[in-house]
Amino acid sequence: MWYFRSPKNIVFGEDAISYLEDLEGKSVLLVTDSILMNLEIPQIVIKLLQKNNMNVTIFDEVNSEPTINMAEKGAKIASENEIDWIVAVGGGSVIDCAKSIWILYENPEMRIDEVFPEDPLPLRNKARLIAIPTTSGTGSDANWAVVITDTQTGQKLSIGHKNLIPDISIVDPQFTLNLPKHVTASTGIDVLAHSIEAYTIQWRNDFSNPFALQAIKTVFKYLPKAVEEGQNLKYREEMHNAATMAGIAIGNSQIGGAHALAHSAGAVLNINHGNIIAVVLPYMMRFCVEEEEVARLYSEIAYHIHLSFSTPKEGALKLIDKTEELIRNLGLKMKLSDFGVTKKQLEENMEKMCDFAINDTGSLVNPRDFTEDDIKKLYNEMF
Ligand SMILES: [Fe+2]
Repeated sequence: MWYFRSPKNIVFGEDAISYLEDLEGKSVLLVTDSILMNLEIPQIVIKLLQKNNMNVTIFDEVNSEPTINMAEKGAKIASENEIDWIVAVGGGSVIDCAKSIWILYENPEMRIDEVFPEDPLPLRNKARLIAIPTTSGTGSDANWAVVITDTQTGQKLSIGHKNLIPDISIVDPQFTLNLPKHVTASTGIDVLAHSIEAYTIQWRNDFSNPFALQAIKTVFKYLPKAVEEGQNLKYREEMHNAATMAGIAIGNSQIGGAHALAHSAGAVLNINHGNIIAVVLPYMMRFCVEEEEVARLYSEIAYHIHLSFSTPKEGALKLIDKTEELIRNLGLKMKLSDFGVTKKQLEENMEKMCDFAINDTGSLVNPRDFTEDDIKKLYNEMF
């Protein structure tokens, strides 16, 4: 038995944000980061909420890597203000932090690392969650995953629970118009990684596959255009929708090994998610393609993006080449050493990286099983 889950409402397209005009409630915790506050993006949201006489309390202390400490602080503020809506305005870090605040606000006795998919997680007794993504990448607005750093150990925790899917996702492309080229590029490759992994993972299914495939087609067609012409609302809208579709795809199947290795290396070597996933994805695809079934699935994708080939393996390899070409043409780094990582640093951290990767959710159902030795080999190849 399997379930398909997504936000109750996904409001998308131009001016989707006006949905907030009719929102009913009393008190909002607006979760965002200081960079966005300075760009005045949250002000648009605040104005709409205040039109309805809602009290808005701002928590703008999230940075690029949300931590449990931040979530605890946000939950305390939520409690002091008896909020009934949490509105997350930002990228994946902000949305993941908002989900964590939500958990702790509703369950003050709970620790974040006690969240397990099979255990009860009471939510919506005090507040509901609206996600307004401002990057086209993580898809956190549409799924039940949270990545948050445990301040004590430095490990990135990947937790998940079906109750954590936001109630409403507002996918308005206007918020992405001013994203810098490199952010558009790296977050766009994250969308590709989500959809390729969702499409090939052992938990792939008839309901997640169409979302994954549509997102893949959109990335290959529109990501270079969105990077090149950032002010083009049509290109931005295509990528913004693709990010949420890919979020639904992984939310209803699973992330895979590329994400396991990227979470681990990203945390240990301090490289942000979009940049590290661009390094890992092609290597993990070359590792996975050795499985006949994966080659067949990659060739299905190759067919849908109009690559010509005569055997599944050839199609699969062409897809990997095409993926590498896209990453290279977008100007993203493709080796760990491009980030200044030294061989010594890699060797010193290898055990820790392997340990984190093996224990990551992404290692559960990768299309090809891997051992610690495989991971070491892959990290060395990426160097
Ligand atoms: Fe990702």
